[in-house]
Amino acid sequence: MRRLFKAAILLGLLGGLAALGLILTDKKEDVTLAAAAGAEAVSAEHGALLLGLAGCVNCHTDKKDGAAPLAGGRALETPFGTFYTPNITSDPNQGIGAWSDEDFVRALRHGRRPDGANYFPSFPYVAYTRMTDADMLSIRAAIMARPPVAQPNKPHDIGFPFNQRWTMRFWKLLHFKSGVYEAKADKSEAWNRGAYITEALAHCGECHTPRYPDGGLMRDMWLAGVKNGPEGETAPNLTSDPDTGLGGWEANDIAFFLRLGVKIDGDVVGSIMYEVIENGTGKLSLADNAAIVEYLQSLPPIANSEAPAAQGF
Ligand code: HEC
Ligand code: HEC
Repeated sequence: MRRLFKAAILLGLLGGLAALGLILTDKKEDVTLAAAAGAEAVSAEHGALLLGLAGCVNCHTDKKDGAAPLAGGRALETPFGTFYTPNITSDPNQGIGAWSDEDFVRALRHGRRPDGANYFPSFPYVAYTRMTDADMLSIRAAIMARPPVAQPNKPHDIGFPFNQRWTMRFWKLLHFKSGVYEAKADKSEAWNRGAYITEALAHCGECHTPRYPDGGLMRDMWLAGVKNGPEGETAPNLTSDPDTGLGGWEANDIAFFLRLGVKIDGDVVGSIMYEVIENGTGKLSLADNAAIVEYLQSLPPIANSEAPAAQGF
């Protein structure tokens, strides 16, 4: 008995030490930007499209209160409390105007603040980490090309222990892998483009993939739909399941939906998905639109009657 007790204490101590070690070794990543020569071009014009497609404007604008675009303050209600998006305009004091390129890329690639603290995944860096340096820097160029807005940030309204940024060290170990999207060699160029747009830029999975209680995405339920998801909305199953997913949708139905927001049953899409289309997918080229469709139609069927997709008339 006594020996067991001693062993348990020793194990506990070792566990504590290991955890402390992990926290102490949680350091800011070095960022080396892709070399200019031969790398994709960085352009503010392209970045402006991405600001919409990637939802940066949607989340970082307090539209309800008529605030300036990208100046932050939009409330995001989650099971952990309410997050208020920060000001990401070019203002050097209230916004991110004083950041370096490396600071900006580190935030999106590694979910890390310039001072080394971790971001909460309510900022969808789990998806953005898959973006190329050029796309990230194009977004930054588009932000810097817009006027600064000196709107101060609102602190998040989340309770202990969820407000502890160091705990994100463990969350990240469980649910986050940083790195640019890697093209799959056995898939077409269009499919890979579609995967890149869906997974990295438009972060469809952040709304349409179910989560564990700690907020991590259930990878084996990828895009299989979420009941009571973001803002209490149900984000339907996007897999090819014929009964609860998009299996009954033709390629044209999906393409049309992503451009105009009209569903297979003739309903106009509501709420936050409308923003995704209005500011994002509705502005994509026909080739990019078709690429998303090819990718979605290739998703293996997963039945999920909790969050079924529309099934026609
Ligand atoms: C789903 C909502 C959402 C979307 C979409 C979103 N963000 Fe954010 N973002 C947040 C939240 C919430 C935070 C605060 C996170 C924290 O405090 O840890 C944040 C933080 C940031 C920060 C850190 C600002 C600072 O002062 O430290 C930057 C930079 C940023 N976002 C840029 C972007 C860009 C660029 C995009 C588009 C590619 C984007 N965000 C899309 C919610 C969002
Ligand atoms: C911010 C959260 C969010 C993001 C990001 C998002 N969606 Fe949605 N989506 C929703 C919600 C909520 C609905 C349900 C809207 C409704 O029923 O009116 C929806 C509906 C849909 C539908 C209609 C399904 C049906 O049966 O009604 C499709 C298709 C769809 N989304 C595809 C996508 C794709 C593809 C992406 C990425 C390009 C994406 N969504 C990104 C939240 C989101």
